[in-house]
Amino acid sequence: MPVPVLSCFGLRRSFATPAGPVSVLEGVDLEVRAGEVIAILGPSGSGKTTLLHLLAGLDRPSGGEIRWGDRTVHDRPPHALARERARGIGLVFQDPHLLSDLDAAANVAIPGRIVGRPDPARALALLDRVGLAHRAHARPATLSGGERQRVALARALFNDPPLILADEPTGSLDRVTARSMFELLVRLAKDAGRSVAMVTHDEGLVRQVDVRYRLERGRLRRAED
Ligand SMILES: Nc1ncnc2c1ncn2[C@@H]1O[C@H](COP(=O)(O)OP(=O)(O)O)[C@@H](O)[C@H]1O
Ligand SMILES: [Mg+2]
Repeated sequence: MPVPVLSCFGLRRSFATPAGPVSVLEGVDLEVRAGEVIAILGPSGSGKTTLLHLLAGLDRPSGGEIRWGDRTVHDRPPHALARERARGIGLVFQDPHLLSDLDAAANVAIPGRIVGRPDPARALALLDRVGLAHRAHARPATLSGGERQRVALARALFNDPPLILADEPTGSLDRVTARSMFELLVRLAKDAGRSVAMVTHDEGLVRQVDVRYRLERGRLRRAED
């Protein structure tokens, strides 16, 4: 079996609070294989964002291990991790976090700057793939919510990452726009053989992903159909 693109074992995370430690993840195991699209379902507060931040190397676990390919994530210095994340992972969040002073094309090209490969032509090609070629020079404030999220998706694809991690990527959109954004994300991943791990509380949206998991009481289990 090839090495999974992303995996974690016995992953734990607890937070210190004034009322004492709160344990959010209590031993999460997960493997995401090349080309696989998975969804992690769970109600608000179940730990989905906590898990995604850990998997992206944006937070450190209280216990257990995370691997990108065959390499452990959290024993590396932050700058090495940031560069590797920029190359290997496309991140999409509920809020697109676009820079308001840059136009859509310049926002899409940001990950290229991080790895020293800005490529304006690629930004335009990606905007075309998400149906926004005609908005390339628009500022974020003049775009709709759905358009902004498609710019964020194009940005996530800029360095051609083998893995996309998405945290409620449709959570800020209305129902119809959410569905088309979800379908675009899955299609662009599948076309290029990319893996996707997305977390969402929207059960209706994720019927057609490869595997669905449920995060409950700090643990992950495969969802029954
Ligand atoms: N930095 C933190 N300090 C204390 N508690 C936190 C912190 N981050 C998250 N939590 C708690 O962890 C739980 C899960 O949060 P989160 O991962 O955001 O859930 P979800 O994304 O599923 O809504 C919540 O009870 C939240 O209050
Ligand atoms: Mg969340």
